[in-house]
Amino acid sequence: MSENNAISLYDILFNLFKKAISVAYPDVSDPPVIIISNSNERFGDYQCNSAMALSKQLKSDGITAKPRGVAENIVSKVEGSNLISKLEVAGAGFINIYLKKEFAQKTLNTLVKNGKILPPYIKKQKVIVDFSSPNIAKEMHVGHLRSTIIGDSIARLLEFLGHDVLRINHVGDWGTQFGMLIAHLQDRFPDYLSVSPPIADLQSFYKESKARFDTDEEFKKRAYNCVVKLQTSNPDMIKAWQLICDVSRKEFEKIYTRLDIKLIERGESFYQKHMETIVKDLEAKGLLEEDEGRKVMFSKRDNEIPLTIVKSDGGFTYDTSDMAAIKQRVEEEKADWVIYVTDAGQSMHFQVLKHCAERAGILKSCHRIDHVGFGVVLGNDKKKFKTRSGETVKLSDLLDEGLKRTLEKLKERERDKVLTEEELKIAQESIAYGCIKYADLSHNRNHEYIFSFDKMLEDKGNTAVYLLYALTRIRSIARTANISQEKLREMAENIPISLEHEKEWKLAKVLIKFPDVLIKITNDLYLHHLCEYCYEISCVFTEFYNNCYCLEKNDLGEIVNVNMSRILLTEATAIIMEQCFSILGLKSVAHM
Ligand code: ARG
Repeated sequence: MSENNAISLYDILFNLFKKAISVAYPDVSDPPVIIISNSNERFGDYQCNSAMALSKQLKSDGITAKPRGVAENIVSKVEGSNLISKLEVAGAGFINIYLKKEFAQKTLNTLVKNGKILPPYIKKQKVIVDFSSPNIAKEMHVGHLRSTIIGDSIARLLEFLGHDVLRINHVGDWGTQFGMLIAHLQDRFPDYLSVSPPIADLQSFYKESKARFDTDEEFKKRAYNCVVKLQTSNPDMIKAWQLICDVSRKEFEKIYTRLDIKLIERGESFYQKHMETIVKDLEAKGLLEEDEGRKVMFSKRDNEIPLTIVKSDGGFTYDTSDMAAIKQRVEEEKADWVIYVTDAGQSMHFQVLKHCAERAGILKSCHRIDHVGFGVVLGNDKKKFKTRSGETVKLSDLLDEGLKRTLEKLKERERDKVLTEEELKIAQESIAYGCIKYADLSHNRNHEYIFSFDKMLEDKGNTAVYLLYALTRIRSIARTANISQEKLREMAENIPISLEHEKEWKLAKVLIKFPDVLIKITNDLYLHHLCEYCYEISCVFTEFYNNCYCLEKNDLGEIVNVNMSRILLTEATAIIMEQCFSILGLKSVAHM
């Protein structure tokens, strides 16, 4: 840890108590160190609950020690620290930990002085986040939207923490569907090699070719032939394939630009050579088994279905590309950690993939692999999200509707009369895209999720709209008092933030939890915790603001007194909220 890092309270407390326990009970190997953060102050700001578990452990070693006694013993061994104001043993053997105000005050002053919050210390790693990953020629659907939003936010979190992050779009650009698409292209646009075919609607094009593929035997044969030629790099086939990919790519790009998502495209086709190699590798290691003409690989774990590595016609599959990709990622990219973001329906696939990669010696115990799964998106009717006519919803239409509805809301509030045209547009986009992202991220991703514009555009409760307004209001306090950002930073050097008022102290304690919240999310990759935290900040801020004046005004509404310390606390709140927003992919707005 250094001055360049935010301090994780949890880490410090954990280490202090770990040390105290090992001094108090040197003979206990691997003693339990249990530290929790408390929302109810009566039980301390944090609590160490090791005494109960330790007493049990001692008992099994034949030593009787009551939990309360154990707790007292631990407390007597905790070294003095600039963090703790008081320790007390309560109830059955809980140790209540009370934080020191000076510590929080210093932390917050430094924060405002720096004008930003630094990340907590972590060991830097190379991380690949594989997300979004739609399929070429098929519509990018709401499932891909979820992957895009969740994956982007995870990447933002890891980037903020200082990891070396590679954002990869593993597009489906190499499947058998290309055979029929190319065969159909040859028929519809025979001179595609010289004149770019005007395919505007790739989805109908896909449907047309699929219909022919399903009914026309001769066409089907030609389609198969095209795939074989494509995968052996026939130049005409590659050209046709590129044309089709380009049409899709342009559509995907539009969505990414609108949502401000950065991704490097590296689809299944990228791994063609790697697939050829891995098949040979696995074969040489004797890891492939024959199964009705296919070559499969078992993970050797109970209840796990095998991966299909080579199809009976000799072709590769989704499984082959993922085996090749994982090898390329750890061996060539030197990734320490790979994160896959897809719907929960694929969790078995990634579980088997991980186990097979371990079996093949590609993954070692130092690698971390996560499948970040998520539930399906439902409509208001709790059925699979579809248009009225039962079609998949086009993402661009969805974003358009978000914009339209947001503008209506802004007009209802007569914002169009106060904001300039430019400001209105910024607010509209920030709210529309922000609320779509936030609605997704604020729900536990394992659950199904009901897509509802009415809900996400509500301005009360844990919604993007509420939080965006909250931050805009917080930021406007200093502005009303005519204090610039530079001035705030300068003030932070000289004016210690007072935490004497109960509500000031409460807010400060929420703010200094930020590093711990990030560490928790890094472990479990559940972003809704960050949303809950953000909401907690804005609720506790409101309590503070309603009880502690920042600006005192006279009857004429003129400012007669400015409480500088509180303005600084306000600024600290804004900085942390802003950082949360940035991780969640939300854009704050100066005027809305
Ligand atoms: N294209 C796949 C789909 O739409 C998702 C790919 C996810 N990434 C991966 N490496 N398998 O379901």
